Amino acid sequence: MNNNYDKIAGHYDTLSRLVFFKSQVNAQINQLQHIPENSSVLIVGGGTGWILEELAKIYTGGLKIVYVEISAKMTVLSQKRNYKDNQIEFMDVGIEDFKTDVLFDVILTPFLFDNFAEQRAAKVFGQLNEYLKKDGLWFLVDFSLNKINGNWWKWLLLKSMYNFFKLMGIVEADKLIDMVPYFFKADYLIVEERLYYGGFIKATIFRK
Ligand SMILES: C[S@@+](CC[C@H](N)C(=O)[O-])C[C@H]1O[C@@H](n2cnc3c(N)ncnc32)[C@H](O)[C@@H]1O
Repeated sequence: MNNNYDKIAGHYDTLSRLVFFKSQVNAQINQLQHIPENSSVLIVGGGTGWILEELAKIYTGGLKIVYVEISAKMTVLSQKRNYKDNQIEFMDVGIEDFKTDVLFDVILTPFLFDNFAEQRAAKVFGQLNEYLKKDGLWFLVDFSLNKINGNWWKWLLLKSMYNFFKLMGIVEADKLIDMVPYFFKADYLIVEERLYYGGFIKATIFRK
């Protein structure tokens, strides 16, 4: 299992809205205003690419975006989006295979790390940390289970989602990796943190 969403690409957004209404979307949209104009942006696991249209509502041009998505079907859907005059390079590869010498101002990883087993999560964090400029911003959006907001329904919902994705043969993870300690260990600072869907979804902006 390599976390490729090809099998459900055409239904992913509907499924997401059915379960989470617009929480997954709003968690990401609210972060976008923090992107400085003319930034270089790396988006990893952008799904159907709706976020490109949201970005184009803020900046109609000037952004240089690299869009890395392992699912070919998701990539095709994303390419059809209206991203106005922003410059986008679509890379249909796993982030593990994406190499670059160019460093980015901003990195987005929305609902990416919750797919990964710990080893891959650690590896991808280290890789992306290398690709972000000093003082660059990293937008992390993921599910969150901690001692303060770890209600039973969140555990149950998360377990059901992992079971569903395991049954479909899509996602390798069977538990959520808390990525925050990785950021603190690498000396990132929190710029903003917002909770959605009763605290089950956490959107954090880190500065390197
Ligand atoms: C849970 S979906 C989230 C999609 C989108 N961010 C959203 O919120 O609508 C995760 C996405 O990450 C992609 N993905 C998973 N592992 C990846 C990897 N190693 N490299 C790039 N993309 C990956 C999947 O194909 C899928 O489209």
